[in-house]
Amino acid sequence: MSKRLFSGIQPSGGIHIGNYLGAIRNWVELIPQFECIYCIVDYHAITVPYEPAEMQGRILEAAAVNIACGIDPERCTLFVQSHVPEHTELAWILNTVTPIGELFRMTQFKDKSAQFEGSVNAGLLNYPVLMAADILLYKGEVVPVGEDQVQHLELSREITRRFNARFGELFPEPQPRLTAAARVMGLDDPTKKMSKSVGNTIGLLEDPQSIWEKVRTAVTDPARVRRSDPGEPTKCNVFSLHGYFSPPADIERVAAGCRGATIGCIECKKLMYGHMMAVLNPIRERAQALLAQPERVWDTLRRGAHHCRTIARATMGEVRRAMGL
Ligand code: TYM
Repeated sequence: MSKRLFSGIQPSGGIHIGNYLGAIRNWVELIPQFECIYCIVDYHAITVPYEPAEMQGRILEAAAVNIACGIDPERCTLFVQSHVPEHTELAWILNTVTPIGELFRMTQFKDKSAQFEGSVNAGLLNYPVLMAADILLYKGEVVPVGEDQVQHLELSREITRRFNARFGELFPEPQPRLTAAARVMGLDDPTKKMSKSVGNTIGLLEDPQSIWEKVRTAVTDPARVRRSDPGEPTKCNVFSLHGYFSPPADIERVAAGCRGATIGCIECKKLMYGHMMAVLNPIRERAQALLAQPERVWDTLRRGAHHCRTIARATMGEVRRAMGL
């Protein structure tokens, strides 16, 4: 039996290339090696202000985009967190072994509570406990994520150790699995992580013209004021995108051309844009085709939840017995 892998994504509207390169692309690659469970985490998404009337559409879109990226529901499981009520049940239980000081230390909590000052709720604080519950419910051992989730995973490991020490060795400690693109940066400001909440994303469903505008105006190595100025590709965010999308020969060519000032930034950007769109165009087209048949996508999600509920119920049985409940 292969090890179980779990990961999740928020239906936050506008899944972007940071999500794709940092997580989803890896999810697809890992399908043959593990028993993979992928979750659209709507209970996490309600910890910040949102519009209820839009939520179903966001969940559907997140599912369609994931399938379009290669999350093949015939080879792995894709489901919606709130369709399996045991997630919140286990989260409550794990709250009782989670040190509250650790929750206040989480970078994401600090950032989001600053951003949503005045509407900070307990769900935002307990967010990482629900993440731990997501993983442990399926005894997930491998968790592919981007760098921003590593701190939460460390806490999941701590929660696992505490639960096991108190109630018996029920859960394996989940291990994070990062990609080479663990932290994709914004194009307009390469010091900031690409993120929906910052609003500096390239969306997987975004129209090509609007993507080109973002690439065209992207910040490059500041040393290259004129085309004749030599640059340093490792200081250029567009060059990192080449690394994720372009074939090795083109990566070498732009690196040499940038250092020798024989290629201009616009030419370099056009080349990268071409390679990026060769990946994004088919994803967008597949997602649009899926969104034209929403019932088929919901069916897939219902099948996923059915499979997950069986596992979740079994785990909760063990948890209750271990805890004397
Ligand atoms: P979310 O929805 O914010 O992001 C989904 C995945 O995309 C990664 N990611 C990035 N990777 C590289 N560069 C970026 N700029 C970038 N932005 C986002 C994230 O690291 C993540 O892997 N809390 C999680 C969802 C979750 C989860 C879980 C994950 C809920 N339960 C259990 C793993 C296990 C989140 O909000 O991801």
